[in-house]
Amino acid sequence: MSMRVMVTGGAGFIGSHVADALLAAGHEVGVIDDLSTGSRDNLPATVPLHVVDIRDRDAVFAAFAAFRPDVVCHQAAQMSVSRSVRDPLFDAEVNAIGLINVLDAAVAQKCGRVVFASSGGVLYGEQTSPAAEETPADPVSPYGITKWVGERYLKFYAAEHGLGAMALRYANVYGPRQNPHGEAGVVAIFLKRYLAGQTATINGDGHYVRDYVYGGDVARANLLALTASDAAVPRGQLTSLNIGTGVGTDVVALEARIRHGLVGVMKEAGRTTSYPAPLHGPARPGDLRSNLVDASRAGTVLGWRPEVGLEEGISQTAAWFVTQQAAS
Ligand SMILES: NC(=O)c1ccc[n+]([C@@H]2O[C@H](COP(=O)([O-])OP(=O)(O)OC[C@H]3O[C@@H](n4cnc5c(N)ncnc54)[C@H](O)[C@@H]3O)[C@@H](O)[C@H]2O)c1
Repeated sequence: MSMRVMVTGGAGFIGSHVADALLAAGHEVGVIDDLSTGSRDNLPATVPLHVVDIRDRDAVFAAFAAFRPDVVCHQAAQMSVSRSVRDPLFDAEVNAIGLINVLDAAVAQKCGRVVFASSGGVLYGEQTSPAAEETPADPVSPYGITKWVGERYLKFYAAEHGLGAMALRYANVYGPRQNPHGEAGVVAIFLKRYLAGQTATINGDGHYVRDYVYGGDVARANLLALTASDAAVPRGQLTSLNIGTGVGTDVVALEARIRHGLVGVMKEAGRTTSYPAPLHGPARPGDLRSNLVDASRAGTVLGWRPEVGLEEGISQTAAWFVTQQAAS
């Protein structure tokens, strides 16, 4: 059955892949995005885009009333950990108050389900083996706190208004369209630097282990969460699921794979290129040494498993950045 899905943050990296997955499955998509980090170019021209800041309650309500969604996929967020540390108020305005605006608008439109972009990385903290959903949340940054509070609000709205609610706790997501200008998204940042003829810098010794999951796989998890039966996503309660691979890769190994992937993409285009080895800069205070998630419950509940391995995912991402550079 075709549904009308409002994707907040749908002009961003993950949100635009969610929009693509929904459209390919025959659903109708509306997008709310203030274009602060997202771009219109990430979306097909046919998708109605409401350029709205989710802090603007009236504008959020008006966009929902105009599009009349059946379900909501909430990706919009202030997603910089360091900005949240510098400016906790701004973080809370977007990630907590903005979320409440979206949830109230969803209730006003009688939406049946809300899927929320949460984060395994910031909830579980230091983890040397894949963390399951039962791992106690212990967020240390304001960004982590608002993701955690966001899940609690979702649980409240589900119980109070009979919504189906699902929080997807992503690991480190990478892929085409990721914004290379922020502080997160090391794959995008390194690719952008190499293509600009610059040397990449690894923070500290680079032995920081993360769980890298491909954007297309994350989009498919959202599609499944939005379209699964009420038996899988029961009304009146929150279901939280990790979305990752359970495989840890440190930044030194990741960087080598990125350079190798980029050389491969260039070779296929008939160009022989090499990129200089990275430099090591100072360690970033507070960076976790290791963080990875166990996503087996997403397999049981949604039938979701990651399909794109790191090597293939990096090649796809490198190819996209090369194409972007050629077009600019
Ligand atoms: N990328 C990751 O590794 C990762 C990991 C865990 C969780 N997440 C979460 O996934 C979601 C999507 O992140 P992403 O990586 O695609 O980042 P992104 O910056 O590409 O996407 C966020 C989108 O939200 C929009 N937005 C920001 N503030 C807004 C506001 N006030 N009103 C309306 N729109 C606003 C931006 O313009 C952008 O299009 C976020 O909620 C983020 O916290 C991402």
